[in-house]
Amino acid sequence: MDRIVIRGGERLIGEVEVSGSKNATLPIFASSLLSMGDHRFYNVPNLRDVQTIIKVLKNLGVKISGDGGEYRIDATEIGNEEAPYDLVKTMRASILVLGPLVARMKKATVSLPGGCAIGARPINLHLMGLEAMGAKIELRHGYIEAKADVLKGVNLSFDTITVTGTENLMMAATLAQGKTILQNAAMEPEVVDLANVLNKMGAKIYGAGTNVIEIEGVESLHAIEHTIIPDRIEAGTLMVAAGLTRGNIKILHCPFSDMEMVIHKLRDSGMEIEPEGDGVRVVGMKRIRSVDVKTQPYPGFPTDMQAQFMVLMSLARGLSVISETIFENRFIHVSELQRMGADIRIQGNSAIIQGVESLSGAPVMATDLRASASLILAGLASEGVTEVSRIYHLERGYEGLDKKLAKLGANIKRVKEGD
Ligand code: EPZ
Repeated sequence: MDRIVIRGGERLIGEVEVSGSKNATLPIFASSLLSMGDHRFYNVPNLRDVQTIIKVLKNLGVKISGDGGEYRIDATEIGNEEAPYDLVKTMRASILVLGPLVARMKKATVSLPGGCAIGARPINLHLMGLEAMGAKIELRHGYIEAKADVLKGVNLSFDTITVTGTENLMMAATLAQGKTILQNAAMEPEVVDLANVLNKMGAKIYGAGTNVIEIEGVESLHAIEHTIIPDRIEAGTLMVAAGLTRGNIKILHCPFSDMEMVIHKLRDSGMEIEPEGDGVRVVGMKRIRSVDVKTQPYPGFPTDMQAQFMVLMSLARGLSVISETIFENRFIHVSELQRMGADIRIQGNSAIIQGVESLSGAPVMATDLRASASLILAGLASEGVTEVSRIYHLERGYEGLDKKLAKLGANIKRVKEGD
């Protein structure tokens, strides 16, 4: 397996471009199942997870072609309604084909996603919502078997705010009979981008981006063109990289208005972050101030930025507390950061971080997508060499992060297995 080797200590200087959002692309690609015709998508990031959703769709008989950011998807013919375990186990977001398949084909057989490194991640709310809309759901041999002669609009209230749960049911509701109301809905920008795509397709969705979304069912939808929004988590990761290396970078295609809480916390840590022309200027200062953070659903501090922010706090002056309220096991990166000299103690769902003068490079192992990004960031700010193994985790959600950082002056390279 390839690894990434970083020699820390270089300041990041220059311009860098944010790619399209992984967490917008995945539900939007799944939504193509809802209509016949030839969809066109632009600014699609080249990620392992995007290749996986493409495999899932092709397995359903969908015609997909494209590369370099532009894709054509034609779901006129759907040959079967099965999303198999060997694909779903590699990416839980494959569950996003469930709602569209039940709505369009009246049935679906989708593997249960199972847990993952960061938590059990049940999908009970997805299934409860579909059942409330009239689907018959059976769990057999590790698969969800869903059938619905007709889906009816319902008034649903989520016990827990769920991003893909909101997306799955919003998609299913577009072709239901009558009106669906989703209360306590997720408000993430990626939910809004999906709703924009669905409304372009002819759906009638109101309130996306708030915690109450109304969907009036329609007879059918049609193909559209759409440009995927930029990835706010990649943008936040690049900002932390600048903060850690006292860098001075300009981020292009930065979704500044979708990053209020992240920018607020980074400014509190002493960074300067301001719009500048067609991008955002990000300047890291020598003195990093300690800042407390609690992850929350949007517009709160995103759990997907927790590991990255923890690296910044590892080098801040003073003590900071980071509380993870979304997932039950999202501190896996802590033990690897401790091996690099970070002073972090876990107490329940909180990490108590005592800033240290410096981190030291070490061989470390990535365990999940955002943990792998945090280890790369730690390497940038460490004395000596850091080798990050199992970087396939990183490639799930970051497009050429090593190349982007190298272009900004980082001493970072990808090393083929066996070299
Ligand atoms: C989405 O996952 C994102 N993935 C995750 O990003 C992100 O961390 C997460 O939302 C939270 O923001 C995509 O959008 C593809 P949830 P999702 O359903 O939808 C509980 C990344 O790094 N829950 O919002 O799977 C669940 O256990 C990934 O890009 C239920 O209990 O997350 C969790 O505690 C990681 N029952 C909480 O809700 C359900 O039916 C939030 O999960 C569904 C969720």
